[in-house]
Amino acid sequence: MIKTKIAGVGYYVPEQVITNQDLEQQMDTSNEWIVKRSGIEERRWVRDGICTSDLAFEASKKAMKAAKVSSEDIDLVIVGTITSDYFFPGVSAQLQDRLNLHHIGAFDVKAACSAFIYALSIGDQFIRTGVCSTILIVGAEVQSKFLNISTEGRDMTVLFGDGSGAAILQKSDDESGILSTHLHCQGANIKDLWMEAPGSAENCQMTNIKLEEGRHFPLMNGREVFRNAIVRFPEVIQESLDASGLTLDDVNLIIPHQANLRISQAVAKRLGVGMDKVFSNIHKYGNTTAASIPIALCEAVEEKKISKGDVVVLASFGAGFTWASAAIRW
Ligand code: COA
Repeated sequence: MIKTKIAGVGYYVPEQVITNQDLEQQMDTSNEWIVKRSGIEERRWVRDGICTSDLAFEASKKAMKAAKVSSEDIDLVIVGTITSDYFFPGVSAQLQDRLNLHHIGAFDVKAACSAFIYALSIGDQFIRTGVCSTILIVGAEVQSKFLNISTEGRDMTVLFGDGSGAAILQKSDDESGILSTHLHCQGANIKDLWMEAPGSAENCQMTNIKLEEGRHFPLMNGREVFRNAIVRFPEVIQESLDASGLTLDDVNLIIPHQANLRISQAVAKRLGVGMDKVFSNIHKYGNTTAASIPIALCEAVEEKKISKGDVVVLASFGAGFTWASAAIRW
């Protein structure tokens, strides 16, 4: 059976570090509250003038270099993001232009924290069916420009960061590759983690009323997100193992979406695995939504936590609610 391999990965984060102490200056919060609730110590936020396509571009160049592919080789681009530079079109179109790619297909996936696994799963289908030979997938976000940076928005603002990660997908020529992917959604919960405006639900225009009510800021029902996440993560990880005929003992590393250290710890406990098997870099970057899994994957590779032949499971949970997993033999 044809398998899809990850031929190269790359990530890029903006250089500006925002510590919890920096946030203490901007809202009524504390380093202690943030670390205790989330494990986050700092995050990266872009400086003025930098947007999501800039981050996506940098991560893409690194992934292409790692995979030793050039612009001519790529025949599809998929970008996961909820923070595109413009309301439309998507970041994928900007990336197609900036990377000087052929007039290939390019589209965005708006599956929030699950978008990178959604993109991986879509790319996997195109490779296995032989329709494409080299696909660029990206997760990139600039969330800092959308947050309510005040005491009113503190529950969300302290959790989120900016960043990007990318991967090149190609046909595998050995036993390595994606073993299975699993995508889920429970739309009944959309209002538990969402940004209402601008949107077509009412008049699309950003009226003063909408702005005054803060409907252009992301909102979250943190407890409901937490409650669902700690159930869905283990469930979808197990689903990927069952589909591949594997057990947790076969898994070398689980890379969960970096939502919150407490969520990862609860997931590890439910699965009965130690935190040494669960990758975490949330203390450095916070939650970077679609970018979090590819950044974590890159760092796990850099830190030599993944070796040839290892089984790696990626898992996500986020707005939608969406959740997803991918089992990969490295
Ligand atoms: N700093 C200080 N205090 C804060 C705060 C902040 N940044 N944010 C909220 N608070 C306050 C609240 O106002 C509340 O105060 P009150 O008791 O006076 O009303 C208090 O802290 C407790 O808030 P609560 O919401 O009950 O805290 P919690 O223990 O549920 O933790 C989260 C809040 C957001 C950290 C937690 O619900 C969580 O981790 N949820 C999942 C979030 C997530 O991962 N989202 C992304 C998924 S992709």
